[in-house]
Amino acid sequence: MKNKTILITGGAGYIGSHANKMLYEKGYDTVVFDNLVYGHKKFVQWGEFVLGDLADYDLLDMVFKHYSIDAVMHFAAYAYVGESVTNPEKYYYNNVVNTLNLLKAMRMHDVNQFIFSSSCATYGIPQKIPIPEDHPQMPINPYGQCKLIVENVLRDYADAYNLKYVSLRYFNAAGADPDGKIGEAHDPETHLIPLILDAASDQNKHISIFGTDYNTPDGTCIRDYIHVNDLAQAHILALNYLESGADSDVFNLGNGNGISVKEMIETARQVTCKTIQTIESPRRPGDPDSLVGSASKAKKILGWRPQYTALKNIIETAWHWKLKQLS
Ligand code: UFG
Repeated sequence: MKNKTILITGGAGYIGSHANKMLYEKGYDTVVFDNLVYGHKKFVQWGEFVLGDLADYDLLDMVFKHYSIDAVMHFAAYAYVGESVTNPEKYYYNNVVNTLNLLKAMRMHDVNQFIFSSSCATYGIPQKIPIPEDHPQMPINPYGQCKLIVENVLRDYADAYNLKYVSLRYFNAAGADPDGKIGEAHDPETHLIPLILDAASDQNKHISIFGTDYNTPDGTCIRDYIHVNDLAQAHILALNYLESGADSDVFNLGNGNGISVKEMIETARQVTCKTIQTIESPRRPGDPDSLVGSASKAKKILGWRPQYTALKNIIETAWHWKLKQLS
């Protein structure tokens, strides 16, 4: 029997490359579609690769004609929250309009299984913690707004065109595959763990703590960090769920543990055995005090079991990858 073929948009990026590797290891055929604006060619070590942009409908049409695609995992998106505020047009075109192109190509080629990378950024300021899926969605920046718009588009397309989708709302993706071949590398880097590890490896002098006057026990922001391979695993379970004929649905993906910026730095000190200098800096605009998710629905319905529940293990994998990059 022919293996199932999965189209992975953004498969050269951080989360997409981990999903590509895991799908490949589980026996799927994969086609990575990435414009390499932020993705890394060296992360595409499994399956086929198509260099292209989702704005290019003709190319998408060719990809669906050439490969017999069974399902799509859509990771491709710009993901700098701050930039989405200063340049929303870039985000609405790439993250919304280009997603419509992808959905159109799927419809034209009768592909109807879709896994979407949504975000906890769709919730905005939480009214309660941990955040369940039925929490009101009131995003406070264009990045979150784009993710919410696509979620709504999917609901309408499911009603009208028989699309079957799963939207996965990630909390903070973290860590790296333990074999050290792929990891987290953004340019520019804005994310907490890579920047802490830059400071631990003397690539930066210090890590800035953005805000120490939040309404949290130590005054720094609390987030829910979830290992990138646990996210990848959830995508495969979501695919199996759609393959079983189940209805479209939405799931949070997080560990349910709130970790403050200061706790993160302290754990990174223990893992790396480095001092790690800190500087207390002003708040970063648009950061809620605390974002922690409830993933009980994904556990119950998808059978999702995150493997990296201890923060120390998550940082260890990121550090292992970092050291490999430096060697
Ligand atoms: N932080 C610092 N210093 C830094 C970098 C970050 O203190 O140098 C703090 C932030 O203020 C925040 C926490 O560390 O409180 C985590 O910040 P990240 O930038 O690593 O991640 P975010 O919480 O901003 O993640 C958000 C959304 C995700 C979204 C992602 C896109 O929560 O849903 O941005 O990049 F996907």
